[in-house]
Amino acid sequence: MQASTVPPILTTKLGQLHEIDCLAMLKGIPADTVDLAFADPPFNLGKEYSSKINDKKTEAEYLDWCKTWLDEMIRTLKPGGSLFLWNLPKWNIPLGAHLGQKLNFRHWIAVDIKYSLPIFNRLYPSHYSLLYYVKGERPAIFHPDRTPIICCRHCGGELRDYGGYKNKMNPHGVNLADVWTDIPPVRHAKYKKRAANALPLKLMDRIISMASDRGSLVLDPFGGSGTTYVAAELTGRRWIGSELDCSAISERFASLQADREHLAEIQASKNILFRTEDLARQKKSGRTLSKDYRLTEEDDCECDQPDTVQPSLFASS
Ligand SMILES: C[S@@+](CC[C@H](N)C(=O)[O-])C[C@H]1O[C@@H](n2cnc3c(N)ncnc32)[C@H](O)[C@@H]1O
Repeated sequence: MQASTVPPILTTKLGQLHEIDCLAMLKGIPADTVDLAFADPPFNLGKEYSSKINDKKTEAEYLDWCKTWLDEMIRTLKPGGSLFLWNLPKWNIPLGAHLGQKLNFRHWIAVDIKYSLPIFNRLYPSHYSLLYYVKGERPAIFHPDRTPIICCRHCGGELRDYGGYKNKMNPHGVNLADVWTDIPPVRHAKYKKRAANALPLKLMDRIISMASDRGSLVLDPFGGSGTTYVAAELTGRRWIGSELDCSAISERFASLQADREHLAEIQASKNILFRTEDLARQKKSGRTLSKDYRLTEEDDCECDQPDTVQPSLFASS
């Protein structure tokens, strides 16, 4: 099954990328086949994209356009499938109201990232909105990552006192909250794939880990530098996407080694109570970790991650 009459510009063992308008790609996807749909559209801020899109529509035009592709994404979602929408709070308020007519609201996740400078006469914009909706009553797949205890980057000491609850802490880490303060912006030249829009790999790994399994189908209509597809490919998810200018994605997929190494670092720092570097800092600064913490335990994770990958893109998994 192909998502468009035009052949994909890039195919991998797990995914396919289409260099066409997202609506054309979306219309080719059968209904009820996608496990996880994610979108990071242009924000209508008048930015220049290499794809030369009009990023300065009227508010009404922008919202109508967004609702059109959101409706298509909803159609492609399986019952129990999850939809995430990344945008500025200003747009996610009306778009969330639209989604709420067809899907069930799960979370408004505030992702603390400060890209811009403070604005005169306004509060300093410090978070992006990540809306999370599900088709049907509850998500078919939900296994959020756990995060390590936040420690001082100098001495390694815990920044919060867990008092008498230390022995009750899960050795796999702290429950994921709906405010994410640990997503670094993409600044490092090694990981920055294009001008201003690439999302951090850690963000996409977290979303994909939470709402999909190996073999699940992940959809992202706005490829950009391909962060969603890279995270999906490297974690064994099938994926499908579109982008008007796919050059950055093709270049990125030509060698995934840097992304593979980056993802390995990201994954080594999750689902643990303390990061190894924090324990090393504690040791170096002569601190002793409270014996009340349980750092290891037989793996009690109940998530079932089949190792086999569905051969066909739209096969039900
Ligand atoms: C904010 S960027 C996405 C960045 C991406 N999440 C990443 O991590 O690299 C939005 C992208 O959508 C693409 N785009 C805009 N309109 C589109 C359309 N109608 N169809 C397909 N892609 C489109 C733009 O070219 C731009 O690269």
